[in-house]
Amino acid sequence: MQLKLLTALFSLVSMLVVSGCAKITLAWADLSADGAVATPDVLGEFNGDGPVTSLSQWQASRAPALRTAFEKYVYGAFPDESTVNVLSARAVDLDAFGGLATLYESRLQASVRFGDTDNKTEVFLLNALIPNNAPNAPVVLMQTFCPRWDTIPHEKISRPKKSGGCGGAGSGLMRYIFGRYIATPPIEEILNRGYAIATIYPSEFVPDRRETGLAALAALSDGRPAGSEQWGAIAAWGFGYSWMVDALRQMPAISATKFIAYGHSRYGKAALVAAAYDKRINGVISHQSGTGGASLNAGKKGESIADITSSYPHWFAASYANAADRYLLPIDQHQLLALIAPRPILLGNARRDVWSDPNGAFRAAMGADAVYELYGVKGLDQQRLGTWRPDAELSFWIRPGTHGVVKEDWPAFLEFLDAHFEGNMKDIN
Ligand code: GCU
Repeated sequence: MQLKLLTALFSLVSMLVVSGCAKITLAWADLSADGAVATPDVLGEFNGDGPVTSLSQWQASRAPALRTAFEKYVYGAFPDESTVNVLSARAVDLDAFGGLATLYESRLQASVRFGDTDNKTEVFLLNALIPNNAPNAPVVLMQTFCPRWDTIPHEKISRPKKSGGCGGAGSGLMRYIFGRYIATPPIEEILNRGYAIATIYPSEFVPDRRETGLAALAALSDGRPAGSEQWGAIAAWGFGYSWMVDALRQMPAISATKFIAYGHSRYGKAALVAAAYDKRINGVISHQSGTGGASLNAGKKGESIADITSSYPHWFAASYANAADRYLLPIDQHQLLALIAPRPILLGNARRDVWSDPNGAFRAAMGADAVYELYGVKGLDQQRLGTWRPDAELSFWIRPGTHGVVKEDWPAFLEFLDAHFEGNMKDIN
């Protein structure tokens, strides 16, 4: 009995460490908007550039300046050019999930150019489930903590011989701690609601490990001088979402034109970065993205920049850690959200996930709102954290509980998707 208890405890601790979620905070998020810290002004002066007074000024000068600043201070220098080559693509099951969808598998390799040097990622795989009754269904692009074969459990999905991962969709302990949908989303429900699913496992090209992750990032950025602005894994995984779009658009059997980046936590950060830099991404579901994602650094609760950059030195440019030490960060995360306007964003949160700082994410959404207004659309349509509006372009969802993807989350995500993507698909410019 004692041995069983010890084994269970040991697995619990190793799971937390393996998934990198070693800190679980038990304080409660305050459900009122945090009045103690002023709402940041997204249109105010920046870098010697006067206040933004028009949409054209935002698009022509402020947005590009912010993208450059996020690379310099937070995520690292992006490639000068990047494309993906589809090495092979085939349907591996025409009647997957009880005939609901066709399952595709493609082998991809991305080219990443820095200066005059063309670098190539390792070959990585993409799996996609396209509803049989809607070949042009909007595609939810997913990256999860777990490999593709956990995200879409199907025996036809290729996996390495020594396949690691999360131990299959049914892995009890992982689900117990991080929720029913931590590895595998509710696939049939998503397909039945008229959405396609595509997934890659980003560790196939930049491993989520300090040494191997940093080595892969350095190899991929060959051609630019090494230094504190070398890109981090969050940026490279962000490119992963764009590579999925590139690949899906090259596959003749798939006629999708709408793409939504979905990610939880570290991949919630990457999903925001992807959308902020790639206009082909039509919407974002960024769940519990926290520091370096949707939460403001100003007035930060929970994880600090020093915490995140020391625990995960491969996620960001080294300049992020330096700027934090010297209080030199001229930008904050409301500006990242604003770069996604006017496209819809769902920010998922949980009251006891204070490590991710839901209040900070709400204040960031309040700050980004002015750019949605500039586009003539309503952004945030709630005064408080708890009054969720799934149809708002900047939609802030908070539920009880802790860090993870639990049974309430996907129904909320689907409600948001239906409000923005069902039938009346919107075009962005
Ligand atoms: C850690 C990390 C967070 C991250 C989370 C996750 O807790 O500190 O920044 O979001 O892992 O990816 O689950």
